[in-house]
Amino acid sequence: MSETPDPTPGPFPPSEAFTAQAVGQASLCEDAGADRLAFWAKQARERLTWSKDFDEVLDWSDAPVAKWFVGGELNVAYNCADRHVEAGNGERVAIHFVGEPGDEQAITYADLTERVQRAAGALRAAGVEAGDRVAIYLPMIPEAVISMLACARIGAVHSVVFGGFSADALRTRIADGEAKVVITADGGYRRGKPSALKPDVDEAVSGETSVQRVLVVKRTGEDVTMGDKDMWWDEALEAAEPVVEVESFDAEHPLFILYTSGTTGKPKGIFHTSGGYLTQAAYTNAVVHDVHPDTDVYWCTADVGWITGHSYITYGPLANGATQVMYEGTPDTPHQGRWWEIIADKKVSIFYTAPTAIRTCMKWGEEIPQEYDLSSIRVLGSVGEPINPEAWMWFRDVIGAGEAPIVDTWWQTETGAIMMSPLPGVTALVPGSAQAPVPGITADVVDEEGRSVPNGESGYLVIRDPWPSMLRGIWGDRQRYEDTYWSRFPDMYFAGDGAKRDEDGNIWVLGRVDDVMNVSGHRLSTSEIESALVSHDTVAEAAVVGAADETTGQAVCAFVILREESRENYAEDAAREELVQELRTHVGRQIGPIAKPRQVLVVDELPKTRSGKIMRRLLKDVAEGREAGDATTLADPSVMAQIQAGLKK
Ligand code: PRX
Repeated sequence: MSETPDPTPGPFPPSEAFTAQAVGQASLCEDAGADRLAFWAKQARERLTWSKDFDEVLDWSDAPVAKWFVGGELNVAYNCADRHVEAGNGERVAIHFVGEPGDEQAITYADLTERVQRAAGALRAAGVEAGDRVAIYLPMIPEAVISMLACARIGAVHSVVFGGFSADALRTRIADGEAKVVITADGGYRRGKPSALKPDVDEAVSGETSVQRVLVVKRTGEDVTMGDKDMWWDEALEAAEPVVEVESFDAEHPLFILYTSGTTGKPKGIFHTSGGYLTQAAYTNAVVHDVHPDTDVYWCTADVGWITGHSYITYGPLANGATQVMYEGTPDTPHQGRWWEIIADKKVSIFYTAPTAIRTCMKWGEEIPQEYDLSSIRVLGSVGEPINPEAWMWFRDVIGAGEAPIVDTWWQTETGAIMMSPLPGVTALVPGSAQAPVPGITADVVDEEGRSVPNGESGYLVIRDPWPSMLRGIWGDRQRYEDTYWSRFPDMYFAGDGAKRDEDGNIWVLGRVDDVMNVSGHRLSTSEIESALVSHDTVAEAAVVGAADETTGQAVCAFVILREESRENYAEDAAREELVQELRTHVGRQIGPIAKPRQVLVVDELPKTRSGKIMRRLLKDVAEGREAGDATTLADPSVMAQIQAGLKK
């Protein structure tokens, strides 16, 4: 070994054999470069079935709200289910479901179509009409995908709420979207035990609510209370008239709302529509993951409660007619080899996961995956946060036999589908970098004034031109949409991420430049957690920062000041420790366990500028164990010394 190891291994060009069979070829770049709109029109027409062809590719006259494939009509659910049966692939497995306790289902495209038609009937019977909102709060079971497609089939708008969110979080999301129906389950299996969901729904729909009906999937069989609005899913499907007909909807018909954290305390309802979204989800899943529907077995480990689950479990792969694995549980239940066991058993060939999960598996040790036959793997993917080159190399060497290409895919809830990624049959891979926009997308790194930065420099990541799967807004709040994404740079979408362009022109995403944290690939808002903390009786003020964490990327660290009247009660170490645990639990209850701070530090003061703004940068230094940086702009420069002295006590 050389004394100074090369900091960035690679680049790794694709093998000739891989390129020869790849779905995404270099010609894509030429086509998109020659005529971007014609390129997208071709993707839309070739990848989807339209009941009425569109007459205009893009209407940008109401910018920044785009209309794609104007005049076109389609049914999204038909595109993801029925048409594959009509094409003779009804017996192909759409979903290999693996439950955490070990129960399995192989759902063919014919089964899927039938179950979606029945579920759509149950929704209709519950009074759901096109345009109505349906909240989905389910574990990772097939009914999650079936419910989403059932909504799409009748033109209802789904709002999936991650099952790990609290009753409070569910209530606000239901209220913001004025959902008429909630689809939930008694519970799901998590870490070897049933974990209840229904009680949270009961709490979320109690009192005044827009919800008229709650459909309950029986998964764990645990006792639940069934009230007036509640109906068992199976019974509702049994009683319903299946929706066999395929209704056509406008290309811009709303498809879903998905809430994500922003820089303020209120989550944003990101709103997506039909034709453009499905086009880009299907296209990127085909060319980036290199999906060959007749031979591959694809597995994306995300939860359907996040955008990755929407685009790369439900919509992209099913539109492409792919076979995929869906797994309910955690990677270490009942043992740390569970994922690899599933890959070996189902012969998974394409595996898409998050850097946090890869780093966790690295910690558990490579002996664990080495016990399993992973020779079916031929493409690996990463999403949600920057992947460090060490994790990249481990993934490729240990899971990909040193050969499988890794696609590091950068995108967001707002972008709807992958925006930057290498193409596995074309790009020479650079570990740690998402490298370049996919053909059809124009991403750039710009300086404060919006000018492209030269190679070797850093700046802000922007998208220059509208793209088919772009958000159409924030539900019910056009102004917030314009302010959040389009005001920083005129005529450019600002993603909120910082990025660097290296000497070879590759783009490296550096992470958020706003008050949004990324914990285990999940987006969390500092101010949302701060609001949760100050809603506790003892807390006067709170400041939250994302501190670097080896496994989760960032971890939530909170600094709190207690109310005057509480200070005395918590002066002793033991009482204070108890309070810290209580505050962590409180945040978990208010938002969900993922938002629980790793650390809560009780301090006497917070570092503020003269205008009263909390200097999170300094708190981040403390949370990451560094000497605090320049504190001269603080109203009281001695505050940092006090905090540090207090913490050392
Ligand atoms: O900061 C970027 C990071 O995740 C943010 C988007 O989060 P969310 O909307 O929850 O969607 C996550 C799944 C698409 C981005 O603003 N991010 C996502 N993918 C990457 C990434 N950062 C670096 N590299 C990536 N591949």
